Amino acid sequence: MAPSPRDLVARFGSPLYVYDLALVRERARALKRCITYQPFQPVFAIKANSCPAVARVMVEEGFGVDAVSPGEVAIALKLGVKPDLVIYTENNMTDGEMAEAMAQGVLINCGSLDRLERLGKAGARACAVRFNPDIGDGSNEKICTGGPMSKFGVHFTQVAEVLRIERETGIQVVGCHMHIGSGFLDATAFVKAMGVLLDVARQLPHLRFVDFGGGIGIPYRPDEQPMDLDALGQKASALMAGFADRYTGIHGRERTVELHLEPGRFLVAESGTLITTVTSVKTNPDSKDGARTVKGRTYVGCDTGFNHLVRPTMYGAYHRIDNLTSGGAPLTTVDVVGNICESGDVFARDRALPMPKLGDLLALRDAGAYGMTMASAYNTRPLPAEVVIDGDDVRLARPRQTIAQLLEQYIW
Ligand code: LLP
Repeated sequence: MAPSPRDLVARFGSPLYVYDLALVRERARALKRCITYQPFQPVFAIKANSCPAVARVMVEEGFGVDAVSPGEVAIALKLGVKPDLVIYTENNMTDGEMAEAMAQGVLINCGSLDRLERLGKAGARACAVRFNPDIGDGSNEKICTGGPMSKFGVHFTQVAEVLRIERETGIQVVGCHMHIGSGFLDATAFVKAMGVLLDVARQLPHLRFVDFGGGIGIPYRPDEQPMDLDALGQKASALMAGFADRYTGIHGRERTVELHLEPGRFLVAESGTLITTVTSVKTNPDSKDGARTVKGRTYVGCDTGFNHLVRPTMYGAYHRIDNLTSGGAPLTTVDVVGNICESGDVFARDRALPMPKLGDLLALRDAGAYGMTMASAYNTRPLPAEVVIDGDDVRLARPRQTIAQLLEQYIW
């Protein structure tokens, strides 16, 4: 039987990240099912959730890992992912980081011509290139990663330069990659960008794979619908099949080009909940703004804040909130706020919740992607614990950080 939220908090403390591994597994399988093109290699963007207990589900399902830093590469390799299934999508990496990645045998996905050139000159024989198809999308401008305002990738019109570097250094571009943004629920721009990327891919003679990136959104708001994954899969598969037939003809290659997709959010967001305890409830009196009466707000304060889940503060993101222990309390409109010393530390304004009381447990839903991985120790507050549930199995995946650990980091 699934443990109650009260049991979880009694055992592991509050605040607490909890992940449902069965749901992660289901999403991983749904992604694999939606693509009919073969060969297909699914990849997990581990920046969304690098908790080993969560990432291991994807590894068991045969996913590769998209890593964006030496730290993420280290987690992938420690999880036992073979280096040739790790793609390191670099962004302004250092030469030292490049040398380390080469020694580890992971495939570097170059985000600029100057990195491609340095990689070729350093003796690498294979790499991928991330292209900017000049089309971006995403639920927020901060996470739109294509188009003229994006720092990412080689512009899709610069293929001649890529070919020159291939000729001059002997490096082979075996992967043609894009990632246009994150959190879209409508695939129109994504599909258009696939067309642009495949035009680029046609010109590259040594391809082993084409990677359309991630970006699939999830319905955070109650009125949003999940993306039609099967329709997207069919579209991507059909475009890829059309490409692959012609590509083999042009370049006389026997091997068929693999399709890669590398989502993060879609796989893990819905599996995660941040459980927090209500520590204060207050209703301010009405106030006057000139002749206007401003209704006093009700603030529900909790024992976590944007240090542990920054998405609402950083992107204005919406997360559903449930009162897990309401006991049938009437719906009331409240602001749910955290314990960090900034006014932006707000999880939700004007949210209708069964009236929270002191000690109630609230669930911040869909927090499994970019929740804990973006958490910080701001205000010198330790990171919360992470717990995974897999059927009847409930286990600690990461102990709560302690103040002692925070203090130990300094040279006193
Ligand atoms: N591939 C690359 C190269 C990426 O940079 C990303 C995400 C992904 C794949 C996975 O994207 P996804 O499928 O998760 O949308 N912190 C933001 C999201 C930032 C995404 C950054 N890149 C948020 O909380 O919404």
